[in-house]
Amino acid sequence: MKPILAPPTDWERVALDPPDDVPAAASLLCRGRVHEALAKVPTDELFEQAFWSRLRGPDCHVAVGVPSGLSPALLACLVAAWMGLKPSAMHNDIGGTVSRVVSGDGHRHDQSWHTDSTAWVEPNRYSVLALLAGRPTVHESTDMLPVATVARALTRDPVVAESLAHESVTWRRNFPHLPNLDAPVLGDPVTRWVWPVVEEEMERVSVNLRRGVKLTAHIVNELPFHRPVVSAERLLVFDNWRALHRGPQVERASGRELIRIKVTGVAVL
Ligand SMILES: [Fe+2]
Repeated sequence: MKPILAPPTDWERVALDPPDDVPAAASLLCRGRVHEALAKVPTDELFEQAFWSRLRGPDCHVAVGVPSGLSPALLACLVAAWMGLKPSAMHNDIGGTVSRVVSGDGHRHDQSWHTDSTAWVEPNRYSVLALLAGRPTVHESTDMLPVATVARALTRDPVVAESLAHESVTWRRNFPHLPNLDAPVLGDPVTRWVWPVVEEEMERVSVNLRRGVKLTAHIVNELPFHRPVVSAERLLVFDNWRALHRGPQVERASGRELIRIKVTGVAVL
């Protein structure tokens, strides 16, 4: 496992009250308070270089350590703003920029391989996850599967790989008040994959795409993947365009709650 990246030490001295819930975190970001605080600290080029090289590298994710003087939620806000999330880009459309993730609650497909924001016009490029509540064990990982690994495995059937890359799926049937959104599963550069939607589309797509979806659903469970853990000591940032992810298989009673901040992307036009 790669060492955890420590954030700039100056971040521990920012004069902001730690947000204890999602609305407080969203408010800090919306009002530009986090951005003002970051503007007062010097840039840390070593952190910057290490952060982006890991996130843009083959693993598609980076784990950032939470110093004892910082709350995970505040660090998530700092990281998201530092990465380029502007107050003007904050919104509440289709899940919103900042949201609470409660493990084992309702959307159990989150515990299967998926990408976030498949119904957005442009899904968020990155997701930042930090622990709000619960005491996760080392087994409660947020698994990461790079799309490149999936694409390599699909080369065994070039015809289905081609249909996954170019034939469209409709991603907004659950949002009838919004215009249709048609996009391929393995688009360039955005990947979209979430089983309940893809499964429903199976009736409507070509034979080749149906084969491609079945093959993908099969191979994602055979390929090697990464197992970073979101805990009180570390947060996770991943590339939502270049990796699939899945939450740990835990029940609601575990009390595991995360804050998720989506960095960049456009939900609706
Ligand atoms: Fe997710």
